[in-house]
Amino acid sequence: MEDFNNVNSIIKLIAKSKLKNGDTVLDATVGNGNDILYLMKIVGENGFGYGFDIQEVAVKKTRRLLAENAYENNSEIICDGHENLKLYINKKIDFAVFNLGYLPKADHSIITRSDTTIEAIKSIMDILSKTSVIALASYVGHEGGMEEFLAVKSFVQTLDQKKYNVSIFNFLNQKNSPPKLIIIEKRK
Ligand SMILES: C[S@@+](CC[C@H](N)C(=O)[O-])C[C@H]1O[C@@H](n2cnc3c(N)ncnc32)[C@H](O)[C@@H]1O
Repeated sequence: MEDFNNVNSIIKLIAKSKLKNGDTVLDATVGNGNDILYLMKIVGENGFGYGFDIQEVAVKKTRRLLAENAYENNSEIICDGHENLKLYINKKIDFAVFNLGYLPKADHSIITRSDTTIEAIKSIMDILSKTSVIALASYVGHEGGMEEFLAVKSFVQTLDQKKYNVSIFNFLNQKNSPPKLIIIEKRK
């Protein structure tokens, strides 16, 4: 049983409740590959995973991690910005995750940016399956982080409530600007 004291534990809970074996997942910011590996373990060998990152080091590390776990034949990790994802994806997406911000232990000046993040969200919304979710962990402690969160929040709150359930999780009693979690759920 996990404590719900961080964004990733809540993302995992939602992923487990929404996904089934054979589904297709998308990690829009693979980084070290932890999120996509978790999602692949849920969708299994019959599922499919797409991953994006603009840093070659992240792409290589994620491909290696997936290969070590025998998911190399049902995943595609692409070295390109998630704003271009439509060029590569030809399946409906059942669950998409963004871990925004910078890659830990790497160049902290390479960060996700609101304009390309919003462009990617819009692209994913066109290829979502019937009962799907986009989860965004938004870090606000680094320069540009709060600006990105506010821009994404402004965009998602305009989505039609007849089509999407949109919510934000905030850890209200934690110190040091904890990340926020934005959930977009496509309604049936
Ligand atoms: C917080 S890290 C992701 C952590 C990762 N999910 C994990 O499990 O380790 C954010 C990543 O977003 C990547 N990134 C920045 N801009 C991007 C873009 N436009 N498209 C795709 N990835 C991007 C960075 O290179 C960085 O690796």
